[in-house]
Amino acid sequence: MSTRRLAPDEVQPASFEWSKESRAKCEFWLGKYPQGRQRSAVIPFLWLVQKQEGWVSRPALEAIGQELGMPYIRVLEVATFYTMFHLAPVGKHHLQVCGTTPCMLRGSGELIKVCKNRIGDHHHVTKDGLLSWEEMECLGSCANAPVVAIHDYYHEDLDAESFNKIIDDLLAGKEVKPGSAIGRQGSAPEGGPTTLKDPSLYDGSLAKPVKIPNLPEKA
Ligand code: FES
Repeated sequence: MSTRRLAPDEVQPASFEWSKESRAKCEFWLGKYPQGRQRSAVIPFLWLVQKQEGWVSRPALEAIGQELGMPYIRVLEVATFYTMFHLAPVGKHHLQVCGTTPCMLRGSGELIKVCKNRIGDHHHVTKDGLLSWEEMECLGSCANAPVVAIHDYYHEDLDAESFNKIIDDLLAGKEVKPGSAIGRQGSAPEGGPTTLKDPSLYDGSLAKPVKIPNLPEKA
């Protein structure tokens, strides 16, 4: 994990304003916390900024701090801690490639090569503004490694071929289906579950009435 810093001054916008839709969502989040605890909404607010602008700028951080009664540095700490927040503009399709050990052992190096060849260095945005990528720490889906997160969804069990196909589809404006590229069921072994396969385990037919002493007679 490298140090996370805000985008340089020349990239920062002069100001930030909520859209009407985002503002309405802010009100919802503010309403979830008791008076005096509005700063608890800092993560949803940052997320809404990112959904609106594509990334989190300094003016947006300042606006959040003012509204939630937090010093700017506190908002900055949260934004720089969580890698889900983009601190600089990203491409329309931002590919977050997991590079942690299980994904690395299952071929994430090949996926990173694809990114470098097709997009360039991490955090570089292609000229057409369509693609960018970054390497992430564990995305929490190691059983289905290697994993790439795109638009909040996980694409799993990838290899260079299936990942290239996803990028082709994104560039062609096609919808890409998240989930396992090899048809894995949930996080079961490849080829399907190997244990706990008997349906009677789940349909209740094995349940036996239990007699508990001391129950009232007409329980
Ligand atoms: S190591 Fe990649 S999802 Fe956990």
